[in-house]
Amino acid sequence: TRTYVVTGSASGIGAATKRALHAQGARVIGVDLRDADVEADLSTTEGRDAAVARVLELSGGVVDGVIACAGIAAPAPITVAVNFFGVTAMLEGLLPALRASSAPRAAVVSSMASLQPVSPAIVDAALAGDEPGALAAAAALAEQGPELGYLAYPSSKRALSRWVRRESISEAWAGSGVPLNAVAPGTVTTPMTQGLLGNPEGLAMVDAAVPMPLNYHQPAESIANLLVWLTSVENTHMAGQTIYCDGGADATLRGDDI
Ligand code: NAI
Repeated sequence: TRTYVVTGSASGIGAATKRALHAQGARVIGVDLRDADVEADLSTTEGRDAAVARVLELSGGVVDGVIACAGIAAPAPITVAVNFFGVTAMLEGLLPALRASSAPRAAVVSSMASLQPVSPAIVDAALAGDEPGALAAAAALAEQGPELGYLAYPSSKRALSRWVRRESISEAWAGSGVPLNAVAPGTVTTPMTQGLLGNPEGLAMVDAAVPMPLNYHQPAESIANLLVWLTSVENTHMAGQTIYCDGGADATLRGDDI
């Protein structure tokens, strides 16, 4: 039986991933603010450290897969704390337990939004591991209103995809035989998007930003199944990729520009 850690397991994509893994007979240690095996706040250092410690206890120090789904889209600094630092700290904290597995794998949830305009100040500080600096840059933007504050979200995801690309080929990850990849969804119908998609203005805004010619808005399962494959024993050679599973949004927006 493989043991997986799924963050954000209480809702949306994380909950669908937990269900898909259970259906395969895997053991899942869910991490979330509430309704989880490990209840912790991944926006803080203390919360991340406590989550790692509790997971190590529950797993006996051996973890076969880590899937980081927990994330938020608030136009505020906490979005950078959860989406970038919460994810990278969990992955780094659980790397020793992954190394103890015979077939370790890791995957994170980035976003189509990683291709949108970003704040270079947030992205650069995040990748430098400077959390106070990244949060200060996000706070300075948020003070100028929600439109600039929103940059925290695409910036956190751009930094995350780039971090995955860099780390995946390092001695720590590739050198330990751990495939590390990201998935970038389009618009997924989950509690995160419910409010926006439920009103005509929000819906029009989302659909203009994320055009999905293939099958339109996607269910959480479309991402969960991909995360399950990326962290399965079958994935032996994929590293550093951000897989756009987005109804064709990336192909529509970027076209030949890759
Ligand atoms: P969701 O809101 O349904 O689930 C997110 C989960 O993360 C919740 O259970 C929440 O409690 C947990 N979480 C939030 N902050 C946390 C914290 N500080 N500590 C611990 N857990 C925390 O959202 P959804 O849609 O399932 O999103 C999952 C991931 O997918 C996120 O990273 C999101 O950015 C990403 N994503 C979602 C898209 C969408 O259209 N729904 C599109 C692209 C990416």
